[in-house]
Amino acid sequence: MNKILQKQVLAPTLKQIIVEAPLIAKKAKAGQFVILRIHEKGERIPLTIADYDRDNGTITMIFQEVGSSTKRLGLLEIGDEILDLVGPLGQPTEHPAGAKRIVCVGGGVGVAPVYPEAKELHESGVEIISIVGARNEELLFYLDNMKAVSKELHVTTDDGSKGRKGFVTDVLKELIESDKGIDAVIAIGPMPMMKAVSDLTKNYGLKTIVSLNSLMVDGTGMCGGCRVTIGNETKFACIDGPAFDAHEVDFIEQMRRLRMYQIEEKVEDCRCGE
Ligand code: NAD
Ligand code: FES
Repeated sequence: MNKILQKQVLAPTLKQIIVEAPLIAKKAKAGQFVILRIHEKGERIPLTIADYDRDNGTITMIFQEVGSSTKRLGLLEIGDEILDLVGPLGQPTEHPAGAKRIVCVGGGVGVAPVYPEAKELHESGVEIISIVGARNEELLFYLDNMKAVSKELHVTTDDGSKGRKGFVTDVLKELIESDKGIDAVIAIGPMPMMKAVSDLTKNYGLKTIVSLNSLMVDGTGMCGGCRVTIGNETKFACIDGPAFDAHEVDFIEQMRRLRMYQIEEKVEDCRCGE
């Protein structure tokens, strides 16, 4: 079980694995994630289910090698097994009812979790306009996948090496102002990007959903690690999310919480290279 069937390098430090996991594949929906461990004393790694194949019993996961655990995961090869894989966890994303045209925004690695949202909506007959952005051309991935489920695909890079030079929000603002009849926005990527999208769409009263990559430990609502403030309520990204109404999210608190363990992550990083 949990055997790696395919492995691919998508961009520097960004890898995709397709893993045998028939029970998870059977139930998975867009927005859900898994938590895995690669050895007995290993850290639990939460990863979005970027795609699933119910017939072949596989799930696809994309990860950035940022700390020791994800670097170790990146060393596993085709045929290796993942020690434990729990999921699907979290709530499937609740898509805006009655929406006919939705803009899906994926920033950097956030393209991995936005793809299943776009695919599921496209399959249910919603027209998708996609915006995919990265720092440079080398970091772009899944353009063909996004194109296949979108009526329009807009690409941005911060340095202008591919597509439009600028941020995803530049294109989003133009699309909203060009009055294309957009009913909602789904935006997934780094927290500052999701905040910027949320601030923008709030001005236009445009329903917006984001997916929070909060710190997670157990993934079952017990540890409190993934606490988020939504409106005036405390929620847990692992059991109540990870998708939430962007206009209700306290992004400043989330960014502060994400910075809390940066030093520990760096120490772990150094140990990985020992
Ligand atoms: P990045 O910082 O390179 O940004 C990617 C794109 O997002 C940029 O090219 C730009 O178009 C847009 N963007 C970034 N900051 C913006 C801002 N202030 N305003 C408007 N647009 C902005 O992305 P990265 O290096 O891939 O991001 C890594 C971070 O994303 C990590 O912290 C990771 O944990 C997080 N992440 C989040 C999710 C999620 O589910 N929300 C998924 C994967 C990764
Ligand atoms: Fe522990 Fe959500 S990860 S409560």
